[in-house]
Amino acid sequence: MINAHQLLAKRFAHPRYLAVIRALSTQVNHLARYQKMNWETFLSTGRGSDNLFRSIDTNHTDNITPSELHVFLDSVGHKGVHPRAFKMLNELAHDHNLSRKEFKSWLVLATNFQQEQESQYALSYERHPHTGQRKPQLDEDNFHTWNEHTMSQAVRKMQYAVRGQVVMRADELKAEGKDILYTNIGNPQAVGQSPITYYRQVMALCDLPEEDGVDHPNVYEMFPADVVNRALEFRKTIGPAGTGAYTGSQGILQFRHDVADFITERDGHPAYAGNIFLTNGASSAIELVLTSIISSELDGIMIPIPQYPIYSALIAKLAGRQVGYFLDENSNWAATESELTQRLQEAQANGIDVKALAIINPGNPTGQVYSREDLEVICKFCSDNGIVLLADEVYQRNVYSPSKSFLSAKKVALETPGCEYLQLVSFHSTSKGVIGECGRRGGYMELHNIDKTVQAQLYKLASSGLCSNVPGQITTSLMVKPPKRGDVSYDRFQKEENNIFNGMKNRAKALVESLNKVDGISCNPAEGAMYAFPSIELPPKAIAAADEQHVSPDTLYALSLLEETGICVVPASGFGQKEGRFGFRTTFLPPDDKMLSAVDKFKSHHENFCAKYS
Ligand SMILES: Cc1ncc(COP(=O)(O)O)c(C=O)c1O
Repeated sequence: MINAHQLLAKRFAHPRYLAVIRALSTQVNHLARYQKMNWETFLSTGRGSDNLFRSIDTNHTDNITPSELHVFLDSVGHKGVHPRAFKMLNELAHDHNLSRKEFKSWLVLATNFQQEQESQYALSYERHPHTGQRKPQLDEDNFHTWNEHTMSQAVRKMQYAVRGQVVMRADELKAEGKDILYTNIGNPQAVGQSPITYYRQVMALCDLPEEDGVDHPNVYEMFPADVVNRALEFRKTIGPAGTGAYTGSQGILQFRHDVADFITERDGHPAYAGNIFLTNGASSAIELVLTSIISSELDGIMIPIPQYPIYSALIAKLAGRQVGYFLDENSNWAATESELTQRLQEAQANGIDVKALAIINPGNPTGQVYSREDLEVICKFCSDNGIVLLADEVYQRNVYSPSKSFLSAKKVALETPGCEYLQLVSFHSTSKGVIGECGRRGGYMELHNIDKTVQAQLYKLASSGLCSNVPGQITTSLMVKPPKRGDVSYDRFQKEENNIFNGMKNRAKALVESLNKVDGISCNPAEGAMYAFPSIELPPKAIAAADEQHVSPDTLYALSLLEETGICVVPASGFGQKEGRFGFRTTFLPPDDKMLSAVDKFKSHHENFCAKYS
């Protein structure tokens, strides 16, 4: 197909028309850029279909003519959807003008997002709990006014790989009786990690009615004295209404003081309870912040690629713009200054206003622990460009490499000249570390140098959810203020913590070492967090087979690993990665006996898979 420029040049080849051609081609360039921008907005947010339609309908006839369509197709190339969808659009517009409705229906079809296919898949395997029969599908009739066309396209667009297609297949196999090793999610207690006794004892005494707990005549025989005292302290702080009543929107003040003291001691710089929000895990804090930042379809959030998919999912849901910056696998997943600058400039050239940048340190899925120099680069970049830094530090306690230690972004910002005004929000959680209480949904965020009005609005937003759950708030206080040396529970607590921590540390090392021994698999060290993120070399025939099945090559690989060995990992494409890279993410959370035998299975499966597609 000849493009719009060639068309113009052909038609107006005479020198007399040169000036006209120049003017027209400038217009065409503008038009192409405008259409491309609208197209990308739709692809990344699921919104703006009317804007897109208007930008194609240059004659303002409320129809798209075949020639308007060709200009549009030229300007967007084949970006974002399967080439077959563009072919279909061409065919649709072949002999008539496309109405707005037809165009929108095509958009829904063409962007049939992967996640949606996955959830249809989920529906299709649901069975009746007693008869075992597959549940009947609803008729495809027209009574639903709330349907795929009218529902939030932003939600359709949202993807969350950690619980995606491979996990659904794993659940199905498990229901059929197969042994599955779930290494897809950082959910330690789901795969055998025991809760730490001290935390659970205090929580129990906070929840139990007084007469059955703290005031029971035998309480000091059932619980260590420091546990009872801590629970009494908590009960006093929470007040007579107890754990079943709402608290203030930001969380109980004393718990926020506990968090502030923890941060002050960790960083050697003061923190203030007024700047702490207690939240339902880090997830809800991240959502509060992104909701308050994104105000238009052209607001950009820079996120690492690979990333933990809550960021891409929320940006899609909130209809903002994801601006990915690639972590450099060859430099242990560093975020380099040149990469950050290049991506910012590209985004700005596309009219995107980059408002915030997220880092994950220690990294998920990548496992790196940033050095002071790494963090200085990031803090300076954000500070110089007026970008709010979102520091996801939920794995701060999970550092295994003897040569590394966790440094918070706040500490580094405060100790780096030129970063005095860095706007920063940091996140922490009770789900990770050695505490691993994912189900308690505890966590906090700390605001640093954040505008007072924004802070007040964040407070209002938190108030609309009333408060974070109280057991989560208690867990957060316990995490930041564990028993001290000399307390009755201290020795047992230490022993349990050390067991968990050393187990993770040893498995991290063993897993990465064995993965690196397999021909065709290579993996950076898991210095921290809970994951190994190897890259794998795949035979061209496997890539072609995946293409035929409309799945990513690493999904094909992960499904094959699951079927053959029962190990459930997440395809690396779910976290984003460089074009042409393939891989997967696995946790090292299951206990030694299971994890170490899994290591051999990774090897045998890889060999079998490569042989099958050689
Ligand atoms: C990097 C990162 N941030 C945030 C979260 C959210 O954790 P939660 O909401 O349980 O605190 C996770 C969970 O895996 C994570 O890996």
